[in-house]
Amino acid sequence: TDRYCVFGNPIRHSQSPRIHTAFAQQTGQDLRYEAILAPLDDFAGAVRAFIAAGGKGANVTVPFKQAAWRLATRLTPRAALAGAVNTLSFCNGEILGDNTDGAGLVRDLIDHLGVFLAGSRILMLGAGGAARGVCGPLLEQRPRALTIANRTVANAKALAERFAAQGAITGCGYDELDGHSFDLVIDATSASLNALMPPLPIGLFAAGSLAYAMMYGLAQTPFRAFAEQQGAARYADGLGMLVSQAAESFFVWRGVRPDCRPVMTQLLAAQ
Ligand code: ATR
Repeated sequence: TDRYCVFGNPIRHSQSPRIHTAFAQQTGQDLRYEAILAPLDDFAGAVRAFIAAGGKGANVTVPFKQAAWRLATRLTPRAALAGAVNTLSFCNGEILGDNTDGAGLVRDLIDHLGVFLAGSRILMLGAGGAARGVCGPLLEQRPRALTIANRTVANAKALAERFAAQGAITGCGYDELDGHSFDLVIDATSASLNALMPPLPIGLFAAGSLAYAMMYGLAQTPFRAFAEQQGAARYADGLGMLVSQAAESFFVWRGVRPDCRPVMTQLLAAQ
């Protein structure tokens, strides 16, 4: 039985063990997946202990994604660009770092929500780690424009600069969105954790648009209320992204792509 885990702090509420255990059952893979609370000051030590105990791979969540990026001895191109790692593979003394967050988001948008990303106008709210992790895979879908808006405008511009070679991406402040509309508006800020949202102008949601919150498990948020009141055609939260990034990690480790839908249904029922 191969061992995998997720490292985080806190970690108690992680759904990853449940998701990967369901994937293993579904695909008949012989593996065990557990949640490990890593100390804030010794993420590397926790990883090394898990490798010494025979661990084959791990997911990494808040607040260790950048520490994992630094710890990796090799990075996939998408992880290098994201500046963060959520998936580690341990093999022959190497620590391979990957990032499946963006691929998970894109899969959720295309496979589960039926969004057509090519040629679309995408607005990303926020320019922190969550936003940076998904810009590359979004740009791979060739949107007409990916606009990054952030409270600290310099961070939005820096993020756009980082991904400039990947496609049509620009950074701005929230006030500069006035008069523009989008097919997809993604909330990648952490404002909803405090029941807040960025100061958005009206008229952002084009006909048929989707409002998407990367955070999951928050029942009613100001962003959701705003999207509904402003006429977004649809709203989705990050449940599909959570399951899809897990499926991408599972594929990285096992070479088998699990079916997300039954696991999404299972998590929804347990909410
Ligand atoms: P994460 O890894 O979740 O992205 P982060 O790197 O701390 O966390 O980034 C948090 C993001 O939420 C940032 O874009 C932050 O804006 P600033 O760069 O201006 O700080 C944004 N954010 C947090 N609280 C916010 C609020 N109340 N209003 C608007 N934006 C907020």
